[in-house]
Amino acid sequence: MKLLVVGGAGYIGSHCVRQLIAQGHEPVVLDNLSYGHMQALPEGIAFYKGELADAELLGRIFKTEKIELVMHFAAFINVGESVTDPLKYYKNNLADVIVLLKAMLEHGVKKFVFSSTCAIYGLPKTLPLSEDLPRAPINPYGQTKLDVETVLQDCVKAHGLSACALRYFNASGANEKGDIGEDHKPETHLIPLAIYAAMGKGKPLAVFGDDYHTPDGTCLRDYIHVDDLCRAHILAFDKLKEPGVFVDYNLGKGKPFSVLEVIKGVEAVSGLKVPYSIGPRRAGDPDALYADSSKAVRELNWQIQYTQLNDIIASAWQWHSTHLDGYGA
Ligand SMILES: NC(=O)c1ccc[n+]([C@@H]2O[C@H](COP(=O)([O-])OP(=O)(O)OC[C@H]3O[C@@H](n4cnc5c(N)ncnc54)[C@H](O)[C@@H]3O)[C@@H](O)[C@H]2O)c1
Repeated sequence: MKLLVVGGAGYIGSHCVRQLIAQGHEPVVLDNLSYGHMQALPEGIAFYKGELADAELLGRIFKTEKIELVMHFAAFINVGESVTDPLKYYKNNLADVIVLLKAMLEHGVKKFVFSSTCAIYGLPKTLPLSEDLPRAPINPYGQTKLDVETVLQDCVKAHGLSACALRYFNASGANEKGDIGEDHKPETHLIPLAIYAAMGKGKPLAVFGDDYHTPDGTCLRDYIHVDDLCRAHILAFDKLKEPGVFVDYNLGKGKPFSVLEVIKGVEAVSGLKVPYSIGPRRAGDPDALYADSSKAVRELNWQIQYTQLNDIIASAWQWHSTHLDGYGA
């Protein structure tokens, strides 16, 4: 299938591009490279440098490339920044997606796979998080993702769009070959930050609070390998064959690990000490977040390959230790 991967030069998008090609699909990438990296893409791929909200460019791509499905990764992802600069997030993560959906519908492209997030659930009252729990995001980032899900469901009813929302937990790790990986600038995710601290890059790792209601006092999160996430995207294609379908899946391992366990994992894999300091809690961090992904297992036949935290960390370590400055400046 020929498909458009919007945000395909980013961390998760670039891993999906590799899997799509390996499985015989033809991805075309649109990315403005605001946070993505050209080096993350395979040579010779059809690539358009441009904006998600460029209706003229989208029209040209849909006309010339004969796109059947759109995968949408192109969001801003910094939760803290979404609180201090909400309009940046409502524009890019919500308003611009509406331009994309309009262009898709105008050109008869009616299949959509959306990168959503567990942040739509807010502070959970029940764990693990299954798809039927109430949505109550506590920051603009999570709200924009929930808003897009609502827009998608309305377009499903009104226009026969078929859409799948995949709610990731903590995407982590890097591909097996070790040639692409995570390089967010700035980085806010725990595993790369712990690796940077071990390598002596920057300051010691800041641990935000050790007085949570968890066994060691630090927050529990669900780390899921990026390639496991990508596999679910491709499995979801089958669900979008009929018009007018909306499906949603929570994607995590279902087994959470604490910040201190991640630090120990990085130390075990790298053989280095992770210097860290305990600081105050961050606003809005729940004690624990982890997924009930049984729906994805049941309906998509999704099988997680990276079941062990240290295997995920080892894949991240392989990437970071061979790409000391990520993809470079
Ligand atoms: N990384 C995680 O742990 C995580 C967890 C839950 C959900 N998600 C979601 O997954 C998606 C991908 O996350 P990621 O970690 O790969 O982020 P990323 O920043 O690495 O990738 C996003 C890509 O989109 C591009 N982009 C952003 N705005 C654009 C625009 N207006 N026009 C064109 N291109 C644009 C960026 O240049 C970048 O290449 C996001 O939608 C994010 O909300 C990520």
